[in-house]
Amino acid sequence: MELFVRLIGRKNLSEGIYRQVRRAIADGRLRPGDRLPPSRELARSLEVSRMTVTVAYDRLLGEGFVTSRTGAGTFISEQSASLRDSHRRIRASGGKLEPRSIWSSTPLPNALDVPMEFDFRTGLPDASLFPHRAWRRLVASELRSEGGAGRYQHPAGHRALREAIARHVAIARGVDASPDDVTITCGAQQAIDVAARVMLNPGDCVAVEDPGYQPPRRLFESIGAKVLGVPVDADGLVVDALPRGIRLIYVTPSHQYPLGVPMTLPRRIALLAWAERNNVAVIEDDYDSEFRFSQRPIEPLQILDTAGRVIYVGSFSKTLLPTLRLGFLISPPALSEAVHRAKYVTDWHTSMLAQAVLARFIDEGGFAHHILRMSRVYRMRHDLIMESLGRLFSDHLEVIPSTTGLHVAAFAKNASVERIHEVIRKAADVGVGVHGLAMCAITNPPRSGIAIGYGAIPTGQINDGLRRLRRCFDA
Ligand SMILES: Cc1ncc(COP(=O)(O)O)c(C=O)c1O
Repeated sequence: MELFVRLIGRKNLSEGIYRQVRRAIADGRLRPGDRLPPSRELARSLEVSRMTVTVAYDRLLGEGFVTSRTGAGTFISEQSASLRDSHRRIRASGGKLEPRSIWSSTPLPNALDVPMEFDFRTGLPDASLFPHRAWRRLVASELRSEGGAGRYQHPAGHRALREAIARHVAIARGVDASPDDVTITCGAQQAIDVAARVMLNPGDCVAVEDPGYQPPRRLFESIGAKVLGVPVDADGLVVDALPRGIRLIYVTPSHQYPLGVPMTLPRRIALLAWAERNNVAVIEDDYDSEFRFSQRPIEPLQILDTAGRVIYVGSFSKTLLPTLRLGFLISPPALSEAVHRAKYVTDWHTSMLAQAVLARFIDEGGFAHHILRMSRVYRMRHDLIMESLGRLFSDHLEVIPSTTGLHVAAFAKNASVERIHEVIRKAADVGVGVHGLAMCAITNPPRSGIAIGYGAIPTGQINDGLRRLRRCFDA
């Protein structure tokens, strides 16, 4: 058999050859009786001295992995099989190391990459309308410029992108931010991770909306925090139900996930006052509010915050693509230095190529244009879904009014959580993807209902898809 050996650098070359042959034996690529390439041949192909190869072969010989027959060559020995078997045993048993117990209760995400004929799953934008051509042009142009590609950069991110984001949030959301306080992250999730690292000690308590978005909850738990679910009503998070003794609150005030309600102004003011009285930090996840279908925009908490308690988180997963993994956080100035340090120890910085491309895309006006275009598309889908839900599901669902983002939610009028689960499973069997509210339960009992996303479903498929879903309620 052809033995593929790759040497990196010019140090410990014999060791490298030895290890790679051992690994090939262990994983079964080399079997007893297989012949190793003659030392002279391998030395020539690797451009090393023959002595380098001979040292490696002698060591394998000394340890019994190979045998040598004068004139015939070097062969994998029969005993080598025991090495392979021990490797297999480790694979089968998994080995002796055990992860921390938290990982046995932390699920992987549902398989969102599995395509659905009618895709009403939440959290997905329309990838088919992503401006591929403009993006490709900017990637090509950035790749041509040498920039600082060979050197690590500042953890806060690409300066031009930080400036572009500060301008964008000022125009789109009224958020007043200095580029110095903008840190670019790999999606909103990493922004929340960085904020949590900055604010939380193991054992601290964090309040989250219930029902709520699961990934941050899992993240807080994974770093040793205790998570407490706080109910959400028609006005948003119930501030009066916030428990004492917490250090951090995570909220989605512009478009509560999953219920879709905006947090009313009195509630937002009450939340900030509560945070001030109790010396608590607030993470505001403003993940999809660029898309608004009513006249009155919802002001972010960040604007109302006069005490520097709000860490504002944004994402490009809905406005562009989730797979870009681009997001940001805007920290109160007192936290920015710590945020940069936390980002540095996490992954140093987010991909500079992606950041440079996005900075140019925003600066050249492509981003604003794309949001405008997508707002029209999503508004049409939102209106169509609201109308169809009212018409087709009035006996089963009570739709929660919502005029922002990429999904709407509805409570089940009569069906139990289990019954809705069954409907969702049946829907998946006939190609309709939809999420249940129950999967967003935190510490309170699950609510019965569904969330319907309209980011991924083409407008022309909405009616057929909802009719098919309706049949699953009847079946
Ligand atoms: C509440 C909420 N926050 C944030 C995000 C986006 O996260 P990321 O930017 O990490 O993709 C989502 C995506 O579905 C979400 O539902």
